[in-house]
Amino acid sequence: MAEIRIRNTEERIKGEENVRAFLESQEVLYEHWNPSKLPASLQNKFVLSDEEKAEILATFDEEIRDLADRRGYKTWDIISLSDATPNLDELLKKFENVHTHTEDEVRAITAGKGIFIIKGTDDVGYFDVELEAGDVISVPEHKPHFFTLMENRQIVAVRLFIETEGWIAHPYADPVFQK
Ligand SMILES: [Fe+2]
Repeated sequence: MAEIRIRNTEERIKGEENVRAFLESQEVLYEHWNPSKLPASLQNKFVLSDEEKAEILATFDEEIRDLADRRGYKTWDIISLSDATPNLDELLKKFENVHTHTEDEVRAITAGKGIFIIKGTDDVGYFDVELEAGDVISVPEHKPHFFTLMENRQIVAVRLFIETEGWIAHPYADPVFQK
């Protein structure tokens, strides 16, 4: 289940209802899928064939279509990252810059872990959302954020798009942000 860390105060927010309420106050959508629907062989696999990606999408087809119907997503795919990904360090360096998009960034984690770092309201500042399998998040359009992996450096996620061009990253220079 997702956990929040407020960077300015080191406060942590745990528990589904608390996390959901906090994220709602920050206009970030949070939902949860049942990660154990996935065959055991895919719950801990980070190098995926096209067939395995299709199997993950088929497993969560109902959840994906429900989310897409409610929020207007038209296409979806699977992304996987791990130490087997070519140039992972370079990729992460590229990811770890605060940016915005013209559409929301939605990710449903199906295996592994990851963190969204998001610029909250002025009273909150930047906060981390630590995500694990089953967590579904949508960072609203124009909200500064970035994504990175956790120590295990392994993740599989479903991405959903309204327009595939809509999530081009626009850099957001923020003197307030500290790594
Ligand atoms: Fe992004």
